[in-house]
Amino acid sequence: MTFETNKSLKEFNTFGIDSKADRYISVTSEAMLKNILQEEQKDELLILGGGSNVLFRNDWKGLVLHLNLKGITVTSEDEDHIELTVQAGENWHAFVEYCLARNYGGLENLSLIPGNVGTAPIQNIGAYGVELKDCFVSCTAIHRKTLESHTFTLEECKFGYRNSIFKNEVKGEFIITSVTFRLTKRNHELHISYGAIQQQLEKQGVDQPTIQEVSKAVIAIRQSKLPDPKELGNSGSFFKNPVIGKTQFQTFRLQFPEAPFYEVSPKEFKIPAGWLIEQAGFKGKRFGEVGVHKNQALVLVNYGNGTGEAIWELALTIQREIKKKFGIYLEPEVNII
Ligand code: FAD
Ligand code: EPU
Repeated sequence: MTFETNKSLKEFNTFGIDSKADRYISVTSEAMLKNILQEEQKDELLILGGGSNVLFRNDWKGLVLHLNLKGITVTSEDEDHIELTVQAGENWHAFVEYCLARNYGGLENLSLIPGNVGTAPIQNIGAYGVELKDCFVSCTAIHRKTLESHTFTLEECKFGYRNSIFKNEVKGEFIITSVTFRLTKRNHELHISYGAIQQQLEKQGVDQPTIQEVSKAVIAIRQSKLPDPKELGNSGSFFKNPVIGKTQFQTFRLQFPEAPFYEVSPKEFKIPAGWLIEQAGFKGKRFGEVGVHKNQALVLVNYGNGTGEAIWELALTIQREIKKKFGIYLEPEVNII
């Protein structure tokens, strides 16, 4: 096994931060992964997938394991459904396209989300009314210390909004190596009532959409708002949309009756963080090499030579201002390294 030293991670994180890892290795098999884990228990390990949900504030004083396990296998199938087991290093959108090409339904609303399949369960990726959990069967993970494999069922994962057991009870303990999905082969259940999907389908001249057309609509909406990391460094939504309790919501609503909101349950209300950040005057603002995207205030951007520290400073300023103006805490969605 050869480790690269003083390796720039710029190409491996969508913020495009030029952070350096003391040591780096691309991991291409489970056996290799176990070998490394056995040998490297003393070093600080960072697991990296597609790098689309991390902010490097500093260089990484340790070893980066870049998870590049590949492969898609059919684990079961009948006339209506198919179960696919996908290795962690497969690119998420390429996997969605693989499914669409074979007319497997369920993931079309999650088109164009960056990152890898193995990371998707960690925050239960979601978009346009669908979350990973809706097609999830299980995932297999290796314990970093004991090297034992464990298969996590849907119930065990405790999925919530941008949340799972991997962000709580077993945070940092497991490396997800594969994920199993259950998809439809016919009678696909479409989710087209969310956001602008319906309008976009009308624009496409479609009234009986296929899963491929839903995917196309989602892609068009995403491209109109979210910057392509290849052109402008970013990590998608920097913060989660805050969910507040009824009492706080009632006070907030009296003060800001025009604010958009979604009722999560009779006791919980979700406020779009993008609205809060726009109202606080940050949308489209540039601060040196970093800033807030002009089309989506929830997206912080790196114009090219920004540092992780500069992005983090901006995030803290936004957090402070939102707390002061609205009394609401914004929790980062991005993993701060
Ligand atoms: P990475 O950034 O590589 O890793 C994220 C974290 O997970 C790190 O802490 C890492 O150590 C850990 N990790 C990575 N792989 C593993 C593993 N196999 N086992 C254990 N730990 C691991 N997210 C959404 O939910 N919905 C969206 O609509 C969405 N849109 C986005 C749009 C853009 C333009 C961008 C840049 C990001 C967007 N995201 C979205 C966020 C991001 O795509 C997801 O969080 C994605 O799942 C991250 O995957 P990754 O492989 O890039 O993770
Ligand atoms: N809004 C503004 N100004 C803005 C941005 C948003 O006022 O600059 C308000 C508008 O009222 C808008 C509402 O916020 O209607 C919602 O905006 P949008 O539809 O763009 O979605 P979002 O809530 O900002 C969430 C996810 C995205 C996901 C989309 C679509 C979170 C943190 N973000 O964004 O996920 O793609 O919905 O489902 O939940 C990500 O997690 O990285 C991500 C991009």
